Amino acid sequence: MERIVYVNGDYVPEVDAKVSVFDRGFLMADGVYEVTSVLDGKLIDFDGHAKRLVRSLRELEMKAPCSEADLLKIHRELVKRNAVTEGLVYLQVTRGVADRDFAYPKDARSTLVMFTQTKTLIDNPVAKTGIKVISIDDIRWGRRDIKTVQLLYPSMGKMMAKAAGADDAWMVEDGKVTEGTSNNAYIVKNGKIVTRHLSNEILHGITRAAVLRVAKEAGIAFEERAFTIEEAKAADEAFFTSASAFVMPVVEIDKTPVGAGVPGPVTLRLREVYLEEARKAAV
Ligand code: PDD
Repeated sequence: MERIVYVNGDYVPEVDAKVSVFDRGFLMADGVYEVTSVLDGKLIDFDGHAKRLVRSLRELEMKAPCSEADLLKIHRELVKRNAVTEGLVYLQVTRGVADRDFAYPKDARSTLVMFTQTKTLIDNPVAKTGIKVISIDDIRWGRRDIKTVQLLYPSMGKMMAKAAGADDAWMVEDGKVTEGTSNNAYIVKNGKIVTRHLSNEILHGITRAAVLRVAKEAGIAFEERAFTIEEAKAADEAFFTSASAFVMPVVEIDKTPVGAGVPGPVTLRLREVYLEEARKAAV
């Protein structure tokens, strides 16, 4: 079945889904995005993703392409048209089409593109075995709280991890872990979760917010502060969160096994309670 893609108001077959070569998303990476997962044909944490999109747009003085209610309608329509029961909806907004110039164009109309990806998320085999990470320097720009499409360094990081026989990378700045290439990073020591505090240095993960909320409800203690790679290697457990991975165990950091080298009990419990809550609240 050919995918149906949403482009600026139209639902079109993917071969016809096109934007201009003058689109600033293409020329300047002048765009922001969101990834929302789909379980049982429903959207997970939609409200959080929609609110963060509005924030990203505001921080870049970019026009919102439509209302939040319309965004939800388009998400649902795409899920329906593509018969997605499990997978993702990718959304990208760019500043739009204008002749190449560093200054923002005054009256460009934002571009809105959305597509779906069918994917096995719940029974992802690595959720059972855990993943291996390496540490790399965080050399990204200083506004990582804005979810921009400048993803070249995270792509390079994943390639560095692959070349080193690992699955992903955690980034380190001033001696402390910032986040994963496409996820937020956590460790567990003596039953307590530690994850970096929110600031411009990391993306304010929607899954992070939900996971900390369910941790609180489940009586699992947590602390929001930066930690070093050494502390992570000496932790009992490690994991990361993202919209596409939910809660994902990390079992090795720079070739050192974390704890017993297998997914830990706090991580597995959090994955379970997060998924239970997220599914209940799905729209
Ligand atoms: N990435 N940090 C970074 C740098 C990310 O790119 C992501 C998400 C997260 C987790 O945020 P959330 O829980 O809201 O997904 C943290 C998405 C999934 C991606 O680029 O595919």
